[in-house]
Amino acid sequence: MITRRFFMAAGGATISIPKAFAQSDRPHFTLGVASGCPRPDGIVLWTRLAPEPLRGGGMPLGKAAVRYRLCSDQAMRRTVREGIVETSDAKAHAVHVVLRGLEAGRDYWYQFTYGKDESPIGRAKTANVAGTTAKLALASCQAYEAGHFAAYADIAAWAPDCVIHIGDYIYESGPGVVGMRSAQVGGFQATWENIRQHVGTETVTLWDYRNRYALYKSEPALQAAHAVAPWIAALDDHEIDNNWAADVPQDPWAQTPLEFKVRKLAALQAYYEHMPLEEPPTVNGVDSHLQLYGAYRFGPAQVHLIDTRQYRSDQVCEAQGNPADRSCDALADPYLSMTGAAQERWLLNALKSSKAPFNVIASQTWFAPYRYNGLNDVPHVNMDQWDGYPIQRQRLIDALAGVSNPVVLSGDWHCAAAMRIHKNPWDPKSPRVGHNFCGTSISSHCPWSLAMDAAKDFNGHLDYYNGDKRGYLRCDVTERNWRSEYRVVTDPRDSKSAVTTDVTIDTRDV
Ligand SMILES: [Fe+2]
Repeated sequence: MITRRFFMAAGGATISIPKAFAQSDRPHFTLGVASGCPRPDGIVLWTRLAPEPLRGGGMPLGKAAVRYRLCSDQAMRRTVREGIVETSDAKAHAVHVVLRGLEAGRDYWYQFTYGKDESPIGRAKTANVAGTTAKLALASCQAYEAGHFAAYADIAAWAPDCVIHIGDYIYESGPGVVGMRSAQVGGFQATWENIRQHVGTETVTLWDYRNRYALYKSEPALQAAHAVAPWIAALDDHEIDNNWAADVPQDPWAQTPLEFKVRKLAALQAYYEHMPLEEPPTVNGVDSHLQLYGAYRFGPAQVHLIDTRQYRSDQVCEAQGNPADRSCDALADPYLSMTGAAQERWLLNALKSSKAPFNVIASQTWFAPYRYNGLNDVPHVNMDQWDGYPIQRQRLIDALAGVSNPVVLSGDWHCAAAMRIHKNPWDPKSPRVGHNFCGTSISSHCPWSLAMDAAKDFNGHLDYYNGDKRGYLRCDVTERNWRSEYRVVTDPRDSKSAVTTDVTIDTRDV
């Protein structure tokens, strides 16, 4: 029995690895390295041994011991921590090292070793309460079939303090059709193109999800973005099933409640196995849960990463994502919730006690409203977004009104937008409470862009919209200003595409 304690060594002492654990004939670090959950005194380091990444990983059943080293210099000469951690097939030979006792707001570099096989070197950075600036990247929605991940190469070149990923890290669907597609979406003829295909059928089992993460992580630019900075991440819908809510799938007629719970358990386990998270899922019978929401501090910004899937009330008015008539009576239910009561209490308390100049909610879906029809009719809105949970949104807006510089960051909808959050979110003449900046997608299509573009004038709180481009959001924060720089990919079919700035918005000017 190998225990982690037995192999821990301090101060750079030599560590020996038993022969049985030292298999180095094949490359094992095919999925790269990552760090995440940055705290003022700690960080999580991640990797996974996967000599055959698309076929379950390819490691023999049983245990494996992996060495890690954390250094204070890029050349990996000054070791701060090192040790050996044990992993096994029970977690797909993923490795999570939760480190504490580090210095706040500083760079570290790390590397894993398995036998003679060395991983790439990654850069980690601890969180920083005292800092006066922060560089944060917002990413979401990276459909593999829709394009390459050139946006991530740009993130890697920028080297932010943290990457905030708010969901759709994978898509669950089986292989689609390569080439141009055209269809009526929201009353407009939309076209889009798939450049490649998923490997494998729609993901349902743990085996399926593991292989799907491996496929996505085969993109070098994604590995580079993980290696350059710590991530904080919370899943959205496609990591499990489109538009799911708590224990309800989008198609309850096609999956029994038990089938969906088993599927969710597999999906949460695979998400954990491929992300630098502090804790594995908790499992109770067929009920599973993964702790994802939390607060992180980056100098002038406190980021409250929220989870709007695991505790959410099911979408109402028989409309999950398509614009629906907002007059549906069920929307007036005060218990209708995106977050569940416990997470809402936590969020309100965290916001209230924050002393940060900027207070961020990183929410998967759009927070500010968006209507798809003219001003003379009842608004038609997307019920999967906060528009479908208006009473809880109003409670949050009322709380944000008493908080220093609220900013909501959103993804999910594959188009870039900047919107003002008003006290009455539908009335742009009511006092402004904060901003909602929506990143576009790393690669996912936006077939509803023409419908949204046509409705711009009906949304008076909208400052910027672009649904035609893929990319991400760069956020440069100081104590006095929040700069959102909308980075766009010139050609998502090209893995080496140029990435440029579409527009820059400074909150001090809006
Ligand atoms: Fe998406």
